[in-house]
This record gives sequence, C-alpha cells and structure tokens, in this order.
Amino acid sequence: MAAEPNDPHGFVFNPIEDREPLDVMLLPMRRRHLRTVLRIETEVYPRPWTTNLFVSELAMRSGRSYYVAKIGPTVVGYSGLMLVGEDAHVTTIAVDPRWQTNQIGTRLLLNIARDARARGAKHLTLEVRVSNEPAQKLYRRFGFHPAGIRKGYYVETNEDALVMWADDIDEVEYVERLGRIETRIEGTTTVEASRA
Ligand SMILES: CC(C)(COP(=O)(O)OP(=O)(O)OC[C@H]1O[C@@H](n2cnc3c(N)ncnc32)[C@H](O)[C@@H]1OP(=O)(O)O)[C@@H](O)C(=O)NCCC(=O)NCCS
Repeated sequence: MAAEPNDPHGFVFNPIEDREPLDVMLLPMRRRHLRTVLRIETEVYPRPWTTNLFVSELAMRSGRSYYVAKIGPTVVGYSGLMLVGEDAHVTTIAVDPRWQTNQIGTRLLLNIARDARARGAKHLTLEVRVSNEPAQKLYRRFGFHPAGIRKGYYVETNEDALVMWADDIDEVEYVERLGRIETRIEGTTTVEASRA
C-alpha cells in the first residue's frame, strides 16, 4: 500500500484496480484502540455503540472476544464475538470505509470463526440489515444462511434484521471452508491470540 488513508470526506483511497496485498495484524481490542474504533463506528452505523458500551464489553472477562485489525499503526477495522454455550454471536464487524473491499472484513470473520471454534462453539449467528447486501454476501461465503427476520430490529430506521446462522462450525467441512477462504486472501494476516 503506497499511501495512508488521508481524506475522511469520501475520496476513494484504495480503488480495487490499485489493490496491493496488505499485511494485516489482528489483535485483541484494548481501551487505547477505542478512539479510532468509535470514529469508524460513527461513520458506518446509523446508531453507533458508545464508548461505555465497548468498555463494558471489554471488561467482560469471559464470553466475549473483541479484535481490531491494524495496518501498520492504524486501526482499520474491528470485530466482536459473544459466546453463549455452543452458540457464538457476532456482535459487530466493521471496516473503515477508506479500507473496505480489501479483504479486511474477510480476515476479521475468518478470525471470528476460528476463535469461536477454539472456544467450543458449534454454531455462529448474527443479525444484519435486510438491505446490507455486501455484508450478506460476505456472510454467505462463510456458510451463513438466513434463518428468520426480526421485524423493526433497527429502531432508528425501523428496518428489519435478517438473522443468519452458520451451523456445525466444529465439523471438518467447516474447517475446510475456512481454509479455502484463506487461500484467496492476498497479503499476510498475523493474529495475536487473546488471553482468554
Ligand atoms: C461488511 C464489511 C465489514 C465488509 O468488510 P470489507 O473489508 O469491505 O469486506 P471484504 O473486502 O473482505 O469483502 C468480502 C466480500 O464481501 C462482499 N462485499 C464487501 N464489500 C462489498 C461491496 N461494497 N459490494 C458488494 N460486495 C461487497 C464481497 O462478496 C466481498 O468479496 P469479493 O471482494 O471477493 O467480491 C464492511 O463493508 C463494513 O464495515 N460495512 C459497514 C458496517 C457493516 O455493515 N457491518 C456489518 C453489520 S452486520
């Protein structure tokens, strides 16, 4: 990547034809990341999470797993996972608009799926806006299928949520699916394991 993302006002920083393989670091989210996380959060979500909500999630000693994606010193995305028994719930996933479509979301979701497996989950679930086609396309690649609608789930826009599940993530077939996804990622991904 030749340049830093430097225009927060809509400049298309990294058009697909200029893509270069990225070296991305995934590491457990810490409080010092929250300033950038909150900035991305307000750019991508109509009802962003507050700092307090992130802080309370990070304070949960078990049953949660939050990661940031960094390129060099820059936080470019993040993800959250909540574990309830055999079910793992993707609470959030977002990439800085200046860095989207660079396989960073794919890397984050790959890490989520592996993390969930390592923590004993058998199924992954999430809610997504019915209008959010790009995210749904990403999720389908990871084996998520639609399982229901939550009417008016997003109160600020009164939009419905599509509930999606990826089943049997503990099975070998799912590991193979993740392996196939990983082989299509250009560049490198380094993961720093969480302490939990
Ligand atoms: C959804 C999101 C996390 C994806 O992150 P990303 O780094 O841009 O995604 P990737 O580059 O890894 O793309 C993975 C796949 O998702 C789909 N996708 C991603 N962005 C897309 C777009 N703008 N249009 C169409 N498909 C898109 C494609 O299938 C893509 O694979 P491909 O490039 O081989 O076609 C990111 O777009 C984002 O932060 N969106 C705003 C927040 C959000 O909607 N989060 C999900 C809430 S449920």
